[in-house]
Amino acid sequence: MNAFDEGPVGIRPMVRADVDALAGWERHSDPRYRMYDVGPLGAGEGDSLWRALSEPAGVREPFVAEIGGRVVAQLVLRDIRKDDRSAELGIMVDPALIGRGLGRRILRAFAGYRAENGYRRLTLEVAADNERAIRAYQAAGFVTRGERRGPAYPGATTGRILRMETDLAAPPFTDSHSCQPPSTSSP
Ligand SMILES: CC(C)(COP(=O)(O)OP(=O)(O)OC[C@H]1O[C@@H](n2cnc3c(N)ncnc32)[C@H](O)[C@@H]1OP(=O)(O)O)[C@@H](O)C(=O)NCCC(=O)NCCS
Repeated sequence: MNAFDEGPVGIRPMVRADVDALAGWERHSDPRYRMYDVGPLGAGEGDSLWRALSEPAGVREPFVAEIGGRVVAQLVLRDIRKDDRSAELGIMVDPALIGRGLGRRILRAFAGYRAENGYRRLTLEVAADNERAIRAYQAAGFVTRGERRGPAYPGATTGRILRMETDLAAPPFTDSHSCQPPSTSSP
């Protein structure tokens, strides 16, 4: 146990400077997760990553999770549907910190943060063989609603992909969670 296992999780909108923190993360030792490696980033690659995470504005919105001032995860909302108050979620935890319960804590904090901002539903798609992610999602309250076949990411072989979602109107997201208000310097 250390500060990352015990410290409160803060959620805030991501800013361009956070890309540099992500670029300093170590790479995944498990080859199955290599597509989630971020750095090192060459000239211009940081800007490309930032655009991929944040554009088009209003449809895609990036966030970070912090513990003790250190960026420990990156989250993105895609396909934001204001009419439906829903969006599709993506998440990457710092590879140095995965598999120790942080993912589920961050997902819970993020769900609470979004519920507080009027969201009703978060959806996601996950490769059926990404057991670690599925267990973390389930522990954070996501349930499987269906599945399809396809590549889990560009270039991947075709496989089973689960559709999962969480209802933010249901407890515990409507009350107990640990998060910070959005930064005023957010994009
Ligand atoms: C998915 C992710 C966000 C989850 O965060 P995390 O901090 O690793 O999650 P947690 O530690 O809360 O939970 C992990 C669960 O998987 C289990 N687990 C850990 N390593 C595992 C492995 N190699 N295979 C299967 N399960 C594993 C853990 O035991 C735990 O489940 P349990 O508590 O029910 O036993 C993180 O692993 C990550 O960033 N992965 C790379 C990016 C990714 O896959 N994103 C999701 C794309 S849809």
